[in-house]
Amino acid sequence: MTEDIILRVDQISKSFQTSEGTQKVIQDISLEVMKKSVLCILGYSGCGKTTLLRIMSALEKPDEGNILVDNSNYCTPSKDVLLLFQDFNQLFPWKSILLNIVHALLITKTALDRKSAVLEAEAVLKEVGLYEYRNRYPRQLSGGMKQRAAVARALALKPKILLMDEPFASLDMVTRHNLQKLVREKCLKYDISVVFVTHGVEEAVLIGDRIVIMKANPGEIGFTLDNTYIATGSSVDKMKMMSIIMEQLNNQTNQEEG
Ligand SMILES: Nc1ncnc2c1ncn2[C@@H]1O[C@H](COP(=O)(O)OP(=O)(O)O)[C@@H](O)[C@H]1O
Ligand SMILES: [Mg+2]
Repeated sequence: MTEDIILRVDQISKSFQTSEGTQKVIQDISLEVMKKSVLCILGYSGCGKTTLLRIMSALEKPDEGNILVDNSNYCTPSKDVLLLFQDFNQLFPWKSILLNIVHALLITKTALDRKSAVLEAEAVLKEVGLYEYRNRYPRQLSGGMKQRAAVARALALKPKILLMDEPFASLDMVTRHNLQKLVREKCLKYDISVVFVTHGVEEAVLIGDRIVIMKANPGEIGFTLDNTYIATGSSVDKMKMMSIIMEQLNNQTNQEEG
């Protein structure tokens, strides 16, 4: 494993028992997440993206294969690999957003005492533009602000990898766009690698250094793309990337229909 790889998914397979029998949800998936990068996983609903993320975070055990983080087998959930969901209600409703972050820092022992936890929580809230809302409770925040606070908490915990499962899918376009920029910029600044799951083609191109397209039934890697748009920022590259992805997704649909 080269030094530039932070997470390796090594020949993972997973089946579930259903009332109709055994369903193979993930088949022989291998991929690598590089340090200081965002890997985007794109695929239709039901192709196994969430299952793959749950296996990466050690919340689910694979039937076959291994997850390696920093060269070591990763089998027990820890704050090294954090999972952030689409659901907006990931914060304790009875604590302000500042105290939500302070609490997370203390229980994970990321901060050694309350004073340093408060300072760190304030710093990340400034970083994501929520400092003036620090004493608000989650119910007093919009969906976008709650996700922004969840990103701030993730930054404070300094995981090696942040796994994001369609975190912005139900936000309006402008809020979503701002959060996409925020995640890329701040995670890379804090040296956190990101695996970002989405079914949005444009979102994948806006956020991922590399884009992996999954196929369904069973979930497999269909296609991998180095996203030139991230380096150039050129709208021509953006359109080119989007059309390559659309073609790949269309091929999948045609194969299913054919
Ligand atoms: N715990 C489970 N038990 C049985 N089937 C499951 C379980 N979790 C997921 N599945 C099935 O696995 C498939 C992939 O689900 P999921 O990973 O959630 O896909 P995605 O996130 O891409 O929409 C679906 O058909 C789903 O019904
Ligand atoms: Mg899912």
